[in-house]
Amino acid sequence: MCGIVGYTGFKEANTILIDGLKKLEYRGYDSAGIALQLEGKLKITKAAGSVADLESKMDEGDSEVKVGIGHTRWATHGRPTDENAHPHYSCCEKFAVIHNGIIENHQALRQWLKEETGHEFRSETDTEVLAHLVEEYYKDDLLEAVRNAVARVEGSYAMVVISSHEPERLVCARQDSPLIVGLGEDENFVASDIPALLAHTRKTKILEDGEFASITPEQVEIFDAEGKSIDKEVFEITWDIESAEKGGYEHFMLKEIMEQPAVAKETMRQRIDPANGRVKLDEINLTDEEIQTLDNIYIVACGTAYHAGLLGKAVLEDLAGIPVEVDVASEFRYRRPIFKENQLVIVISQSGETADTLAALRMARQKGVKVLAITNVVGSSVSREADEVLYTWAGPEIAVASTKAYLTQLVALYLVAIYFGELRGYLASEKADELVKGLKELPGQLEQVLSEESLAKLHKYCEHLSKWDNAFFVGRNLDYPVAREGALKLKEISYIHAEAYAAGELKHGPLALIVDGVPVVALITQKAVYDKTLSNIQEVNARGGAVFAITMEGNDDVAEQVESVFYLPPVNDVLAPVLAAVPTQLIAYYTALARGSSVDKPRNLAKSVTVE
Ligand code: M6R
Repeated sequence: MCGIVGYTGFKEANTILIDGLKKLEYRGYDSAGIALQLEGKLKITKAAGSVADLESKMDEGDSEVKVGIGHTRWATHGRPTDENAHPHYSCCEKFAVIHNGIIENHQALRQWLKEETGHEFRSETDTEVLAHLVEEYYKDDLLEAVRNAVARVEGSYAMVVISSHEPERLVCARQDSPLIVGLGEDENFVASDIPALLAHTRKTKILEDGEFASITPEQVEIFDAEGKSIDKEVFEITWDIESAEKGGYEHFMLKEIMEQPAVAKETMRQRIDPANGRVKLDEINLTDEEIQTLDNIYIVACGTAYHAGLLGKAVLEDLAGIPVEVDVASEFRYRRPIFKENQLVIVISQSGETADTLAALRMARQKGVKVLAITNVVGSSVSREADEVLYTWAGPEIAVASTKAYLTQLVALYLVAIYFGELRGYLASEKADELVKGLKELPGQLEQVLSEESLAKLHKYCEHLSKWDNAFFVGRNLDYPVAREGALKLKEISYIHAEAYAAGELKHGPLALIVDGVPVVALITQKAVYDKTLSNIQEVNARGGAVFAITMEGNDDVAEQVESVFYLPPVNDVLAPVLAAVPTQLIAYYTALARGSSVDKPRNLAKSVTVE
């Protein structure tokens, strides 16, 4: 995830900025850069790679400087290169900008800036338009120029701008991306995250959406969207560096679970046309004809991404009418899959570097089959080698157990299924409208699922679960892939052996293992198979199994059958897996905590499996 640091004061800015960027390295990034106010000019130094690479490019004279901004970039628009790293100059090089977030209308703005006002661009990024817009609107006040620039912008931003016209000043703006001002004595700071500030100050002012800040060594002024000055309270930070890195949470995994409402929204952003509510996947270059004539899709992935693929199969078949086969990449690559004439392979990979997934992708391409990659990492091997890429915008995932990346994979698959379904004339537009409406409601519903009140319900059951060495996850229809992923999560971090079964399979064998107290997590969200699943729950109950049910609000008869119930807000059945996944993640998390396991770095596992 991108990181921002800014400084204006009396100390060596370059040291403060480099140290601040190092404190943000844990968030993941692929390039870094710094802009300094040097003898009446702005000097930008950038490097693809690490902050250490950037440091090695700095000159000795840089230490004279007292004002500057620094950035670590996690590539979104444009590959991770020196040119695309932030800060970005405007044409005259009198303005430099760093930015976290996504400028949705950057293409239209770029075109306007090039054609109407003659600006020339140096990078492929969406951010660079901000630098040119600020230059375009600058008269004699940087804050005014930034206000006018962001008035043209659609999207999310935390941005900091400096100008050689006003050498002591940092001007900041925030919308949907965090920005915190750090208060010092004759010096002030700004950062996207608290760890970058902690070595210097614990006194902060936190910007809200729509707010601007003007920062000099002596003064911090904050303004609302209308330009009215705001008297903001000082927020004193009490966290130590370790909890600050985790946003105050005990583990990265919990932080990442809590980020899911935001990343679900981010993954939908720009992919639903606000004008007509239609899904639009502009980044996919498959022709309408190619999509309309598809005979078959293979989804290939590993681990959690494979489980996302299982759901992808169900929704692509249901909404787009395309037969789909799903395979784990380590098997697929050594099989001789039979490709149809109009075939597509979809590979799913958070890291974009998983060796088996990459090999499967290469094999399909060698056979002349087009590959669409759903991945989270811009510039990853998978993204570079696939024919088409659809990015999940989950941001870097640090915990080994995948949570937010999985959730965004589900969202991406819904978008593909709706898009393909409408293009193929298989999905009626009323049904598509209903699903798009449902998708847009998911971030708010995820917030509800993550409320403290909901979380409290999980603790008691997890205490029980933590005392067992075996558990089951069951569900039918779309609940089944969620059960598979829930079982994997529990295994991975609590080391409890968990198995997922299609609920109807219980009586074909595993029911023999259900005795008093055996933990069974039952997903029961699908109306079409509700009664059937309820009967399966009764079968478990009758043998003394301890059932934790995950179901929709209003399904009160479930509560009569089981020990504990977790209710999800009402949602279209097709989209229920997005909400249902969350309590299963939290069950794994709280159970692992109760067992004292290493949550973020489970034994024997690596975040990215780049070997066979
Ligand atoms: O980076 P990828 O999505 O390709 O990784 C695939 C699996 O290794 C990964 O999902 C793994 O199963 C996770 N640790 C699960 O939490």
